[in-house]
Amino acid sequence: MPKALLEIRRHFLNRYIDSRFTAMPVQEVFSTIYNQNLWGDGEAGHYSGPGSHSPDIIGPYIEAIQEFAGPSKGQLSALDVGCGDFNVGSQIAPLFASYIGCDVVKSVVETNRERYESEFLVIDATKDKTPSADVIFIREVLQHLSNADISKVIRNLGEWKYLIVTESHYSGIHFEPNLDITTGPFARRSGKQSGVVLHEHPFNLDYGRCEIICEVPSNSASKNLVTYLYTRA
Ligand SMILES: C[S@@+](CC[C@H](N)C(=O)[O-])C[C@H]1O[C@@H](n2cnc3c(N)ncnc32)[C@H](O)[C@@H]1O
Repeated sequence: MPKALLEIRRHFLNRYIDSRFTAMPVQEVFSTIYNQNLWGDGEAGHYSGPGSHSPDIIGPYIEAIQEFAGPSKGQLSALDVGCGDFNVGSQIAPLFASYIGCDVVKSVVETNRERYESEFLVIDATKDKTPSADVIFIREVLQHLSNADISKVIRNLGEWKYLIVTESHYSGIHFEPNLDITTGPFARRSGKQSGVVLHEHPFNLDYGRCEIICEVPSNSASKNLVTYLYTRA
C-alpha cells in the first residue's frame, strides 16, 4: 500500500481507538489496555509493552539507574508510580533501601504482589496523593496521559529529592513538547512530533537541576526514550 494511504489509514485507526477511550475513567482505560493486550502480545492481562521488556531499551536504563544509585545513594527510599508489570522495577528495586510500586490497575498490582517481594499499592495518581520517597520514578506513564491528567499527577506527587521521568520523544528536528492527547494506549509520539517535558509549558515543574541520564532509540522509528533526572532545589 502507498505510504500516503498507510498514513491516512493509521490516522483514522488512531482516531477510532482514541474515541473508545474518551471520557473513560483512567482506571478503566488502563484495565482495558491490559485486558485486551493493546501494548503487545506478552502475557495476557499483565504485559506493559516492549518498552518494559526489550533488552536494548531497558538495559541502558537499568545501567543508568545503577550509576545514579551508586554506593552513596543505596540507602534511599524509592516509589515507582505506574510500575506496570514490574519487569523493570524488579531489576532496580534491589538498589534501594525500600521500593514501593504503585499502579492504577488492581489486577496488575495483585499479580505483582504474588510474584515480587516489594510493596505494591493501588493508586490512581490523577486522584490519589502518592507516598513521599527520596526518589520517585515515573517511567513511560505520562506519555499516555492527557495534559490535564499529567497536571493532576504532578500535584498529587508526594515529596521527593530526585524525580526520574522516562518519556518517549519524537527524535526529529521539529520537536514540539507537550502536545495534548487523549488518555489512552498511544503515547504522545503517535502521529505527533512531540513528547512530555515536565519543565516546559504548561507543566513548568519546579526543580533545582535537570539532566538527561539515558537516551535510547525506542522500538518505533523516529522515537527515543529519554530519561530525565530532576533534583530538588
Ligand atoms: C507503559 S506502562 C509502564 C510500566 C512501567 N513503568 C515500566 O516502565 O515498565 C504504564 C503504566 O502506568 C500505569 N498508569 C497509568 N496512569 C496511571 C495513574 N494515573 N496512576 C497510576 N498508574 C498509572 C498503567 O496502568 C501502566 O501500568
